[in-house]
Amino acid sequence: MEEYQLVPRIKPEELQKRLDDLAVRINRDYEGTSLIIIGVLKGAFIFLADMVRRLSIPVEVDFVRLASYGESSETSGKVKITKDIELSIKDRNVLIVEDIVDTGLTIAWYLDHLRQYHPESIKVCALIDKFERRQVEVPIDYAGIRLEKGFLVGYGLDFSEKHRNLPGIYEVQFQK
Ligand code: PRP
Ligand code: MN
Ligand code: MG
Repeated sequence: MEEYQLVPRIKPEELQKRLDDLAVRINRDYEGTSLIIIGVLKGAFIFLADMVRRLSIPVEVDFVRLASYGESSETSGKVKITKDIELSIKDRNVLIVEDIVDTGLTIAWYLDHLRQYHPESIKVCALIDKFERRQVEVPIDYAGIRLEKGFLVGYGLDFSEKHRNLPGIYEVQFQK
């Protein structure tokens, strides 16, 4: 078992402030209409839960689970859906909610995939826009926090499925 430490990066209160700001923008941008929110499992579940409780527009919530092909930890860009959404998005405003955009390959593929169902609009909301390893340009319409790099866990983000339950964001640092 590899040893590592968790170093605090973003406090819970700071996260909640960023969510307040995002929610103000989303409520304003979608005023007078309604939204289908698609959370990308598993990472987005906490961010989504905290976000939807701040929205005053009518929302419907659905989930997709996306997985990269292959066993390598590096994203390959080839994505498959292991649990699909159940709502129809035709002619609807769609907001995809992600915990983190890293290489961008997952969200780029999914955006492209959803277009075949002819939604009225599609936007992306990500708690963390981590840009150092970005491989494809993706529009992140609502980004909570921009960070250059770091192996992050907490608030939905995992390391081998652990630490998703931490209320803040931590950086994994491996012992030398
Ligand atoms: C992580 C994260 C994003 C994706 C970002 O999910 O939650 O969904 O990777 O990576 P990318 O921008 O490089 O494509 P992961 O596949 O680890 O699944 P999880 O959400 O279940 O942890
Ligand atoms: Mn994910
Ligand atoms: Mg993960």
